[in-house]
Order: sequence, then C-alpha cells, then structure tokens
Amino acid sequence: MNDPIHQPDAGNPVARDLLAWFAQARRDLPWRHTRDPYRIWVAEIMLAQTQVARVLGYYERFLERFPSVAALAAAPLGEVLKAWEGLGYYARARHLHRAAQEIMARHGGRFPEDPAAVRALPGVGAYSAAAILSIAFGRDEAALDGNVRRVLARLFCLPAPGEAALRALAAGLLPHGRAGDFNQAMMDLGATVCTPRRPGCDACPLAAHCRAHAEGREAGFPAPRPRRALPHYDVCAAVIEHEGRLLIAQRPAEGLLGGLWEFPGGKVEPGETLEDCLRREIREELAVEIAVGAPVATVEHAYTHLRITLHAFRCRLLSGEPQAVAAASRRWVRPGELERYAFSAADRQVIAALR
Ligand code: ADE
Repeated sequence: MNDPIHQPDAGNPVARDLLAWFAQARRDLPWRHTRDPYRIWVAEIMLAQTQVARVLGYYERFLERFPSVAALAAAPLGEVLKAWEGLGYYARARHLHRAAQEIMARHGGRFPEDPAAVRALPGVGAYSAAAILSIAFGRDEAALDGNVRRVLARLFCLPAPGEAALRALAAGLLPHGRAGDFNQAMMDLGATVCTPRRPGCDACPLAAHCRAHAEGREAGFPAPRPRRALPHYDVCAAVIEHEGRLLIAQRPAEGLLGGLWEFPGGKVEPGETLEDCLRREIREELAVEIAVGAPVATVEHAYTHLRITLHAFRCRLLSGEPQAVAAASRRWVRPGELERYAFSAADRQVIAALR
C-alpha cells in the first residue's frame, strides 16, 4: 500500500525524536535479530518479569534446546522447567509449554497472527500480546511495562496515572506502522536513560517534550509506594538418604514453584519444633517415618508475596516405603543425578551445601 494513510510514519514529534534516537542507540539484543514470532514470543515471556541482563543468560540456550513451537510442544514439561531453572515465575514456563501444544493443535504449529488468538494463549497477558503483535507482526499496539509507564508518567508529569490514562497516552503517541520500534525504544529509554533514580535527562531524546523535566520534577517518578512487609514462614526440608540415594519430591503442578522438584518438607506450625515439623510433614506428604539428623543448611529466600527461612536436615528412613500422597511424584536419585531435575533457588542452595 502506498497511500499516505497506510505508510509507516514517524508520527508526532515525540515518536519522531524517540525513533531517531532508537535508530542509533538501540541495544543489540538477540531477540532483535529475528522476525520469527516464536522467538519473539519466548523473549517477551521471559522479559515480562525478568531483567534483560538475566534473560540473556537463558534465551539462546532455551532456543537451542527448543528451536520451534513443535520442539517445545513435544518436550516433557520437566525439561522445559529445567531450562527455566533460576529464571523464577515458573508458571511462565508451564504456560509457554501448554501454549505451544495449543498452537500445534489449533494453529497447525504456526504462531498465530490474529490478535484474539494471540491473547487467548496461556500466559499471554495484555503486555505480552501487545509486544508480540507489534514486534513480530507490525500491529499498532502499545506495550506498557513498568519502564514504559514511568517514561509516560514523567513525559506528561502525572505522578499516579491510572491504567486507562496510560493506555490513552501511549496510543496517542504510537506511530502508525512503527509500533514495534516505538515500544522497544520506550523500553530502552526507560532501562538506560529515563531510569527510576537519577534519570539522565541530559542524554534524553525526549527532554524537550518532557513536562516533568520542564517543571524540574523528574525525581518524583515513580511516586514512592509504601512497602508492605512480606509475611515470613519457617520451612523445613528433609534430605533423606538411603543406600546412596536421596529422596526428592515433585511439587503439585499448580501454585508456587509448581512442577519443580524439592527436598520434601513444609511449613512449621505454631509451637512446633523444626524436628517435629519435619517428621509430621514427611508422614503427611510421603507416608513414611524418619529420624531427623544434623542440619545441612539454613537458607533465606524471598518470593513475590512471601519470605521463607528454609531449614534443611539430613534424615534417615525408619519405616515405610515413600508414596507421593501430597506430592505430584517422588524419586530416589543418586547425588550426581540431581542436576537433571529443576529445583527452586532455595533447594539449589541446599544441594550446594551438601557438596
Ligand atoms: N523488555 C521487554 N521486552 C523487551 C524488548 N523487546 N527489548 C528490551 N527490553 C524488553
């Protein structure tokens, strides 16, 4: 199409200056070397809750192991979780895997281009859908992540803008046909120049358009939010050794760390000793009796909504054959085989302490 209405354009002055800056300042990132929607999808899911620097250590390894929708759909979930181990927010990996299977079943193995079909994929929220649709398919969709929200709030000097206001402001700036570059330019600007603390306004391509800068108020974004203390739990874990093997249990598929492996155990109840907790948890979860031995490690770990102190003990089997009563699965493995399984970061520290 060659009529002016359908030509990509640089649009308004903000988009024009932003795109000119992006043309020379864009970060060289691996997902910017492809037009393959599968690869862009994987990147956006990883990036939705994880910083670029951390994703870089995972992205290419993941794509080597799962080079296509078909390869991802055919892989056992355990291998997908293993490739995700350490990235956190493991529901993303489970959803990605399930979505790949849906793409095989419903879209002939081709990542869908239809916005409604993209939004219907497991794990694809408003942000990921807009990012994928704009970057992979050139759709005019504004992707709002934390960085972009802050850039917009400063640009329009709105200390606490609502979701609808942000959406309208972003849509108003979006240059027709260039949304993929516009979104990624906003992300780069937020990550490298328009940072939360001490923004680099001297190097900002939008300084001349920025209302917060004009008013000398750029420091007030984001408006400070009162931080609520996270609830804390003491959790016990049993390293049960028997004839040279260790007993590991798989967490139920849904919920925190769903599908990951761990040393079995659970939360300490009020008034309970660590040893009592462990004997009770192992009885409830695996229907066996244990003797609790020496401590292995004490690990502090914070999740999004809670903090834990994990107390791991060496334990010995007294009676019974472990059954996965309140676990998805259980397995006896040699210490050298632990590497094959996906564990949470806290359990990885227990494994390090065993060595
Ligand atoms: N954060 C989320 N998506 C991104 C992208 N495509 N490039 C850089 N940072 C991002």
